Amino acid sequence: MRTDTSPAIYRKDYTPPSYWVRTVQMGFDLDPSATRVATRITLERNAASNEKVVVLYGEEVELVQIRLNGKALSKRDYSVKAGVLRIPVALNAITLDIETLIRPDKNTSLMGLYVSNGNFFTQCEAEGFRKITYFPDRPDVMAKYTVMLRADKKKYPVLLSNGNLIEEGDLGDGRHYALWEDPFKKPSYLFALVAGQLVCQQETIKLKSGRDALLQVWVEDGNLDKTQHAMDSLINSIRWDEERFGLELDLDRFMIVAVGDFNMGAMENKGLNIFNTKYVLANPRIATDVDYANIEAVVGHEYFHNWTGNRVTCRDWFQLSLKEGLTVFRDQEFSADMVGTESGRAVKRIDDVRVLRQAQFPEDAGPMAHPVRPDSFVEISNFYTVTIYEKGSEVVRMYQTLLGRDGFRKGMDLYFKRHDGQAVECDDFRAAMSAANGRDLTQFERWYSQAGTPRVTAQTFYDAASKTYDITLSQSCPATPGQAKKLSFHIPVAVGLLDSSGKDMTLKLDGEVAAIGTVVLELTSAQQTFRFTEVNEKPVPSMLRNFSAPVVLEYDYSEDELAFLMAHDSDPFNRWEAGQRLATRRLLALTSASQQSDALSVDPALSDSLRATLNDAQLDPAFRETVLTLPAETVIAEQMDVIDPQAIHTARRFLRHSLAQALRADFLAAYKANQTGSAYSPDATSSGKRALKNLALSYIAELDDADAHALAQAQYDSANNMTDRMASLSALANSHAPGKVAALARFYSEFEQEPLVIDKWFSLQAMARTIDVAAVRKLMQHKAFSIKNPNRARSLIFSFCNGNPSRFHALDGSGYVFWAEQVIALDAINPQVAARLARSLDRWRKYAPELQEKMHAALKQVAAAKLSKDTKEVVTKSLA
Ligand code: ARG
Ligand code: ZN
Repeated sequence: MRTDTSPAIYRKDYTPPSYWVRTVQMGFDLDPSATRVATRITLERNAASNEKVVVLYGEEVELVQIRLNGKALSKRDYSVKAGVLRIPVALNAITLDIETLIRPDKNTSLMGLYVSNGNFFTQCEAEGFRKITYFPDRPDVMAKYTVMLRADKKKYPVLLSNGNLIEEGDLGDGRHYALWEDPFKKPSYLFALVAGQLVCQQETIKLKSGRDALLQVWVEDGNLDKTQHAMDSLINSIRWDEERFGLELDLDRFMIVAVGDFNMGAMENKGLNIFNTKYVLANPRIATDVDYANIEAVVGHEYFHNWTGNRVTCRDWFQLSLKEGLTVFRDQEFSADMVGTESGRAVKRIDDVRVLRQAQFPEDAGPMAHPVRPDSFVEISNFYTVTIYEKGSEVVRMYQTLLGRDGFRKGMDLYFKRHDGQAVECDDFRAAMSAANGRDLTQFERWYSQAGTPRVTAQTFYDAASKTYDITLSQSCPATPGQAKKLSFHIPVAVGLLDSSGKDMTLKLDGEVAAIGTVVLELTSAQQTFRFTEVNEKPVPSMLRNFSAPVVLEYDYSEDELAFLMAHDSDPFNRWEAGQRLATRRLLALTSASQQSDALSVDPALSDSLRATLNDAQLDPAFRETVLTLPAETVIAEQMDVIDPQAIHTARRFLRHSLAQALRADFLAAYKANQTGSAYSPDATSSGKRALKNLALSYIAELDDADAHALAQAQYDSANNMTDRMASLSALANSHAPGKVAALARFYSEFEQEPLVIDKWFSLQAMARTIDVAAVRKLMQHKAFSIKNPNRARSLIFSFCNGNPSRFHALDGSGYVFWAEQVIALDAINPQVAARLARSLDRWRKYAPELQEKMHAALKQVAAAKLSKDTKEVVTKSLA
């Protein structure tokens, strides 16, 4: 941890390494309070570099000794400054022996080697390897690793590392060893080791080429009843990558290990993926439908990294989205294919776009806005963002939209042909897509270099005499930090035209048949007009189908047109979108009425459209649920010049309450019609039914009357799965139901032994309508609360600060005082987690002056504290 202001690192300053590392041999003597690490690395001078110096990075490691070609170096032979060790040397080939001493039990940052519940784990991405030993810890330095693990046999019976197990045996003194060898060269961030008391579920499968692969899911004893879904997801991922991209598992053995203390979701270490337990453990008793879906997605994500990330990795950390954006795109496609149906794909797409709008659009409009390929950073851990991941995925998706699925596959094939085994740049991916398809994608580069969410404005003109229909699209992009002016993006805008019966027209552009239903218009200038010909009647345009680009599309739809699209659009995404546009208009109007203390009211048009969707048995329940779900408070907030969390909350609750009154009978009917019976299955059809049923319950619960309470209570009492249990508990917790306190207590005692369920218990309360800071503080005193465990801290502190806007932004500023305290407390324990929480006040300048002032004071308070560079970067940028 450094307290000075750390300097920014710039992409333009990239220089190739002075030395390559060819082999790495490591020996670990594992001990929680003193682990000795002996590392032998062979290096070779990089002919392309002029520097005659070996550069090694180290952080919080004690350097015991260092030898060059067998000769011990004295302090005069090298320099160490701010974690960088330099050895002036100009030999072509050298061997370094480095011995370090580390303290895993004192490592609360959860980077490098650490202890969780008595077992050893590592997390090396991005720069954790340097907390294990001094090393050229940068992703373009790739080497082959051999790892010897030695530890007490009783305490640490299982010893795992990357690749293949070569040898294991006893050391005679109660200790034992295991020797692992990874046949593939890799950057240090993909190194991993695990040691401890773990058990596994395993299975051998045949790969497409006929080879056998051993698959293992490792967990703590007592959790083997929760590994089947992760195993199934892994097998499905392997099959999917063989099928869709022709990519096969390249190892004989692939392991997943679950750990309860983890900063992020999971990590794609070569052959030894390490996961947050949240994304591994599931059975109907403890996991919801959403948990099941998340596990499938994250298992897929980490597995897909084996090609997009590991076989082809990043030249430097500015290229992070090269692997993350692409791998998120792959996991999104995987999840969509696993559902299979058109409507299921649309629901997945809607979920992904929701995340983008709720989290990435605000990021792109705030002080931490950065391009998909950033130009600078202070702490790379702060750039594992929704922009790098989710917007990065949208950028990859646009290639597929522009080139088609086959064209995209050709580009992927060429990418691997050109770059397998290399550390490359985002530009190399774009070049492969371009070359494989003979397409000029020069302008497309701006999606990587420019931050901010582009606005696309559409205007239309129908000329009945000439039967032409013009769509004029213009684009602009707001300024972001360091980027005042933006150049035009290359934006694919998928468009369809509906005739008066609601059917897709055959589309002709300037006389040429362009498509039967959807055409992808390519907007490349500030303004362009596209002329459709032989248009026999004035159409209703369906634009940005399937959300073909990560932009805000503005078009002055009439209410009737939106209702029409909601009922007829062949593009399910835009059916949903039309409903969201209608609801957003109402919510904005209600918000402003609430600010003016006007009487709130809603006209029946919206509820009529929603009723039609709710009762349309032709539509999948899962899809109906997405339509009936109103835009989130944070999404409404982003549409206001000055955010008023209380008014937004009042408006949204009022609209939900009104809809519940208007559609009570319909909701009750949907509730009854979508029961799933006694055998639980997380498949898309069943979970879709539960989603609609539980949405109906949540609307009915808005009425907060005896019947609503009884319905929620009955569901809670009879629930046979966590989805139904959580939905009913949430309905109770947000009501005045007499059984609410008892239900919360019963839930706790029933699941006391299940950490992931206790996280849900904290989180549900943190997001309840009635909670305040005092109640959150009281929950922090609960015996089950621990600020050191990231999942637990997130379940309570983050859920309150990020998931409960109206309570967090309480007018007295108590939320901000609490936030500042927690950021400072967390920073001393775990900078990465603290820096995440520090982002909660990102948008402070968007709020009314009274709130702004209080947020500003809280930010200043944090900025004045002794901080890690992680948190310092976030608050400094917020205040800038
Ligand atoms: N590469 C991991 C993933 O699958 C994320 C790891 C990031 N870890 C970190 N400490 N920043 O997305
Ligand atoms: Zn990833």
